[in-house]
Amino acid sequence: MAKKNIYQVADWNGQSGARWVANQARLDAMVAVFGEAAIEAVAPAPGERVLDIGCGAGASSLALAARVGAEGQVLGVDISEPLIGRARALAPPDTPVLFQLADASSAALPEGAFDILFSRFGVMFFDDPAEAFAHMRGALRPGGRVAFVCWRGMAENDWVRLPMGAIKDIVPPPAPPDPEAPGPFSFADKGRVARILTAAGFTDIAFTAFDASVPLGEGATRDAAIDDALKMALEVGPVSRALVDRPDDIRARASAEVRAVFAGLPGERSVMIKGAAWIVTARN
Ligand SMILES: C[S@@+](CC[C@H](N)C(=O)[O-])C[C@H]1O[C@@H](n2cnc3c(N)ncnc32)[C@H](O)[C@@H]1O
Repeated sequence: MAKKNIYQVADWNGQSGARWVANQARLDAMVAVFGEAAIEAVAPAPGERVLDIGCGAGASSLALAARVGAEGQVLGVDISEPLIGRARALAPPDTPVLFQLADASSAALPEGAFDILFSRFGVMFFDDPAEAFAHMRGALRPGGRVAFVCWRGMAENDWVRLPMGAIKDIVPPPAPPDPEAPGPFSFADKGRVARILTAAGFTDIAFTAFDASVPLGEGATRDAAIDDALKMALEVGPVSRALVDRPDDIRARASAEVRAVFAGLPGERSVMIKGAAWIVTARN
């Protein structure tokens, strides 16, 4: 059998991992509210054991640990060595959280040991998502709960749509990705996600649309916030990928257009932009 997730393992230990570590505080500020919505949906109780899939730098694992308390336990699993390293460095001592460097689709996980399977934007990257979720279900006790947050479509997510629209006349638009290929938008279609979870053996599958205006950039002044948002767009996400290896003059023109779009967005010492996600819940 071909080894799974080879590209994602390489990318999250290479360019994407390095960029996420470099922008960790910005990214955490941007996605925090989505993670909180998924945590609210699953309502972890004190003493519960939670498996946090694709935990990255661990912010959601720490938020979950605060909910389950000292009697509970959170295990964050991620394929990215730099991000697991950052998660371990950020976790205060005596927090009931452990981090494991492993591919969640095949990791050795204790059978039926968790009450909750959780993820903040970490489950859209599997080559074979139904097989991955079936494997992870093995770690969930009978009756255990699932909650994760994933992006809806690119067209609904202004943090992609607006900056990509700004550069469309400067760099050729990338070919539309295969909507089912592993990547941030591969769970946009809730019918597909329901099929994946059903095939993996889950029941009571439900979707709630969750929209939020989130800080793409922040700073001491509005100008500094716009620069911060621009820096983020040039380092992480689709604009950064569209500009890889482009000559300096093209990068400069594209940056100016993106900056102008960000300058038109609301925010005082921030640049607020709309994100659109699904909060998905299910049961074992
Ligand atoms: C978009 S990031 C989200 C990180 C984190 N949950 C957060 O919200 O900040 C996706 C994460 O999923 C991880 N990931 C991708 N494929 C994975 C796999 N097969 N097993 C475990 N983690 C995976 C990546 O390394 C990355 O940290």
